[in-house]
Amino acid sequence: MERVKRLAAQLLPGSVGTKPKVALLGAAGGIGQPLALLLKGSPLIGELALYDVANTAGVAADISHISTAVRVKGYTGPQQLGDALQGAAMVVIPAGVPRKPGMTRDDLFNINAGIVATLAEGVARHCPDAWVLVISNPVNSTVPIAAEVFKRAGTYNPAKLFGVTALDVVRAETFIAEILGVDPRDVTVPVVGGHAGVTILPLLSQCKPPLQLEASKAQQLMARIQDAGTEVVQAKAGAGSATLSMAFAAARFADACLRAMAGEGGVVECAFVASALTSLPFFASPVRLGRGGAEAALPIGAMNDLEQRNYDAMLAELAGSIQKGVEFAQRRA
Ligand code: NAD
Ligand code: LMR
Repeated sequence: MERVKRLAAQLLPGSVGTKPKVALLGAAGGIGQPLALLLKGSPLIGELALYDVANTAGVAADISHISTAVRVKGYTGPQQLGDALQGAAMVVIPAGVPRKPGMTRDDLFNINAGIVATLAEGVARHCPDAWVLVISNPVNSTVPIAAEVFKRAGTYNPAKLFGVTALDVVRAETFIAEILGVDPRDVTVPVVGGHAGVTILPLLSQCKPPLQLEASKAQQLMARIQDAGTEVVQAKAGAGSATLSMAFAAARFADACLRAMAGEGGVVECAFVASALTSLPFFASPVRLGRGGAEAALPIGAMNDLEQRNYDAMLAELAGSIQKGVEFAQRRA
């Protein structure tokens, strides 16, 4: 039996025994720590590699004492990035600086673009087949940056690169459930577009159970979902942005990816992916996940007048953010 397991581990890259290795980059940060905690509880993960530029040893020691089967190792600094990534089947990236009040996500570009590009170069070198889940903002630009890095390295697989927009869905479910007086787990609502301000487009008309709101109330709810990140940034008053709800959302998205990777059928989650649904090269929509990554970006369906107006209004901003990421990565080459 042991021999069979060892053989399976050799045949399935990124697997430890039969379960995959997941690398978390930015693991000692505000998102990284609670996300590491949630991933340590996953029955689908064999090994968790916790990487950061500082403070990883303490986080890894702490998390490693939790009595689940996931093996945990800590890695600190660029010299150890290769070891952290080696053999990973999934890489989750919350590395980078968060917003302070008054900032837009795009104000983070100058610092986070370089961080994501460097980490993507590490992925291309050490685990080119891994699924890559980008959390670092501005997601509308950092995902195109990672794509360009992978293209240059000759390792780009559009099916395996995801901008994590799950927090927008989690928020939409929560706020809608408050209105409907139901359990948020019983709410399904697609959130499409991107992950910044007006590019976050919840399709309230497609909500299940149905949500009957007059146009002004629907516009208010849409604005609350679009501005929810800013609501947290203001409430934290300089101490950062959403971390705990983000960890919950990322753990849920990672779990969906791991289930699909393990062969579960019918897994659908919203994410910002390479897409032919619109004129833009990347777009967030419900995505059907399979063993090889994103199998299909699912059609966004019919929009009502309010949604169509918001959709039309977002396209130029989203196109600009994508292009900014592409140009940054091409200048770096
Ligand atoms: P944080 O400052 O608390 O943690 C970031 C961590 O990244 C730190 O531990 C830092 O040491 C580490 N880091 C910095 N440079 C690194 C590098 N080169 N390699 C590895 N690690 C590095 O910030 P946070 O609150 O965890 O937020 C992280 C990022 O996630 C921010 O850009 C934030 O805007 C973004 N975010 C995205 C979403 C989303 O929905 N996609 C939600 C919330 C936050
Ligand atoms: C969020 O939506 O909470 C994140 O993108 C962080 C932020 O800066 O708002």
